[in-house]
Amino acid sequence: MLYGVVLAGGTGTRLWPLSRAGHPKFLHPLTGTEASLLQATVDRLDSLASPDRVFVVTGVAHAAAVSRQLSAMPEDNVLVEPSPRDSCAAIALAAAVIARRDPEAIMGSFASDHLIADKEAFSDVIRSAMAGAREGLLMTLGITPTRPETGYGYLQCGGPVGDGPLLKVEEFKEKPTYDVAEGYVKSGNYLWNAGMFVWRVESFLAELHRQQPQLAAGISRIAQAWGTAEQEEVMGDVWPTLPKISVDYAVMEGAAAAGRVGTVPGDFGWNDVGDFHTLGEVLTADQAGNVVVGHDLAERHTVLLRETESLVVVPSSGRLVAAMGVRDLVIVDTPDAVLVCPRERAQEVKHLVDQLKELG
Ligand code: GDD
Ligand code: MG
Repeated sequence: MLYGVVLAGGTGTRLWPLSRAGHPKFLHPLTGTEASLLQATVDRLDSLASPDRVFVVTGVAHAAAVSRQLSAMPEDNVLVEPSPRDSCAAIALAAAVIARRDPEAIMGSFASDHLIADKEAFSDVIRSAMAGAREGLLMTLGITPTRPETGYGYLQCGGPVGDGPLLKVEEFKEKPTYDVAEGYVKSGNYLWNAGMFVWRVESFLAELHRQQPQLAAGISRIAQAWGTAEQEEVMGDVWPTLPKISVDYAVMEGAAAAGRVGTVPGDFGWNDVGDFHTLGEVLTADQAGNVVVGHDLAERHTVLLRETESLVVVPSSGRLVAAMGVRDLVIVDTPDAVLVCPRERAQEVKHLVDQLKELG
């Protein structure tokens, strides 16, 4: 049986103004279903981990909303961070808390903001990854790349591990430059890192100790105090001192260089829905290629389109959104902000958010 850890941090700035600091993308039902991305992530683990073995790591600002959305989850399984210290600290905290309960545990770490179309294929891939974890490897899930995306990690595939579908990873390269990414994709020997990991907590904590001694020492102090009267005080003292670094840079690159990373190549309809253009690509479009997010196409009562093509429209204010004679645009309407931009520049929305922050 697996321990599942779901990371619910980050604000998804490329999905502004839908995704906000106060209401980040994982709390949204982005695809128009009832469940939010977070709820869907937890539901997806139901055949792999019993409910008492599923944990969420989230910031203090979102803990209440997370608990509300996950009402069946034991309260103690929501691990609350006083401030964001990036994914390595979040994962390490969960690993250390789980290791105290079960030193032999195998844990899977899952992003809370990805879409996965084929749950069965996903579960099979995770079970394969657990076999690699039992061998002591830090396991990744590898996705066949379709473009030189610079926002992802890349896995250079090595030889098979055992006789299953597992491969050794020769190199883990996080967020390469465009030229390097292009070379990787052309070579045909690299996979995207899906941002989900499976390992024995013991293997991960040993690598953390080897590569990030300061982070490991801080987490170990926190873990000792966890569940005691000192928890809050130690967390308040130690957490803000932890290095702010993602697990990809902090542990995975170095672990791969040391020959301790494996991957399961998998096709389970993965999409990290980073921006409105990609979101538009995974949802069903009408005949003219228009996508209305969060709406059944049959009941588009808040959107009126005439002679439009390839729009991504997000009606999220209750107001009527109407467009005529335009194409390839993103139009997002929320109660206090409206965004209009070309679909092909949807990635750049994060710069608007930076500009907004500068304005104060
Ligand atoms: N709890 C918590 N606290 N979670 C966090 C924090 C934090 O401070 N920072 C990030 N996370 C969570 C995010 O919510 C997300 O679920 C996950 O950690 C990954 O963080 P991102 O910031 O989304 O990383 P990324 O998308 O740039 O890159 C990662 O994912 C790619 C695939 O989508 C890497 O693993 C890449 O290698 C990978 O290709
Ligand atoms: Mg991400």
